Formats: sequence, C-alpha cells, structure tokens
Amino acid sequence: MNTIEAIKKRRCIRGFLEKPVSREDIVKLLDIARLAPSSHNMQPWEVAVVTGKALEKLKNALLDALHNRAHRHFDYNYMAKELPNHLKANGDACNQIVFEYRGIDPKNWFQLAPHLEENLRFFDAPAELVIMTEKSIGEGAFIDIGAFSQSLYLAALDLGLGTCPQVSVSQYADITHSTLNIPENKLILFGIALGYPNESAFLNKMPRMPRMPVDKFTIFFE
Ligand SMILES: Cc1cc2nc3c(=O)[nH]c(=O)nc-3n(C[C@H](O)[C@H](O)[C@H](O)COP(=O)(O)O)c2cc1C
Repeated sequence: MNTIEAIKKRRCIRGFLEKPVSREDIVKLLDIARLAPSSHNMQPWEVAVVTGKALEKLKNALLDALHNRAHRHFDYNYMAKELPNHLKANGDACNQIVFEYRGIDPKNWFQLAPHLEENLRFFDAPAELVIMTEKSIGEGAFIDIGAFSQSLYLAALDLGLGTCPQVSVSQYADITHSTLNIPENKLILFGIALGYPNESAFLNKMPRMPRMPVDKFTIFFE
C-alpha cells in the first residue's frame, strides 16, 4: 500500500474485535507518529494510553457524566457557537448521514442516548489514546498534533489496526483529568479509539463521508 492508497483507504472505524492491541504495537505506532513535523521541532504531543481496568474506569466515569447530564466542558474552545454557513452545512450533512444510517431521530433522547453511549464507550475499542499538550503552549501546537495524529492513523493501517478520533474524552475534560489523574497544566485535545476493525460491524459499513471538491477550498494566486 503506497501513501496515497493509505490516505484513501483510511476511514473512521467504529466497531472493533475483542482482541487486545499489544503494548509493543502501540509503541510502534507512536514511534512512527513522532516523526511528524512540528514547529521548531517542539514535538508538543503527549499521549495517555488507556487500556484494561483504567479504560473501564474512564468509560464508566464518562457514561456517568452523560447519565447525570453533567456539564460538558472542553479544556479549549473546541468549536464556535456561530459557525460560518458552509462549515455548519458540512457538519449538519455529516450528522444527517450518521442519524439516517442509524435510523435515529436526534431529538428523541431515547434514540440518541445509545448513540452517545457508544461514543463514550469508545465503540468498545480495546485501547483509547488520549492526546494532550501543554495548556500554556498556544494554538500553533494544534497544527503539529494534527500531523502527528494523521501519521498515527495511517501507520495503524499497516498494522491492521483501525482508529477513530473522538471528542468523548475532551468534551468532559474535567472528568478525564480527574479519572486519569492528568495534571491541570495538560490540555486534553481529543481521544483516538484504537483496535482491530470488526469488518462486519454495522457502523463500519456506514457510507463514506463526502468531501468538498478542491475548487471549494482553494484559491490560486499567480
Ligand atoms: C477532532 C475530531 C473529533 C471527532 N469526534 C468524533 C466523535 O466524537 N465521534 C465520532 O464518531 N467521530 C468523530 N470524529 C470523526 C469524524 O466524524 C470523521 O473523521 C469524519 O466524519 C470523516 O469521516 P472519515 O474519517 O471516516 O473519513 C472526529 C474527528 C476528528 C478529527
């Protein structure tokens, strides 16, 4: 598989086999991801690898937060309340594809709750990577961590692994901090569910998400 094929093949995996990912393979992935470019080579990424009992504890804490209608709180301004129209349209289209595929009316709590729970259970992935940086570093670090993460998603394909970036851990950042004892000076950006894809899982057969054509997001200056 060459790089372009890998980029085209990658998609979010939301159904996993009950097979653990070895620590050796997780280290292999991080060993590749760390080669990503970063401003001044600062390498601002930090990763908490959560598996086993710690994973159960984290999932239960997040599920409790949902059931208790806890306040959702990010460590950073994840998304503006008022989005530019075309971006809101892309986001709405994504939600529509997911809800239609799943046959969910998002206004019906009893239909929506299991969907939210699956997210907070990391789709039963055997490992969750919590991606962090220093709170005081500045938003430029997010660029570096985007590159780090994409490298990790692609490297995972080579090991037969699937990934899904998620906001589950960051939308209840205070709970993730306290459950994993992550110090307050660390900024929890997002999580990555990691495991062996269950090819026959319903959610892994969801239609692929559309992308805007190049001319919608590109200007040439000559
Ligand atoms: C920062 C970030 C957060 C995301 N959060 C979630 C999430 O909470 N739940 C989920 O199912 N997918 C989540 N996604 C996955 C996106 O929905 C997905 O990447 C997008 O729809 C494109 O689909 P694809 O990755 O399968 O091509 C997230 C992706 C990113 C990069």
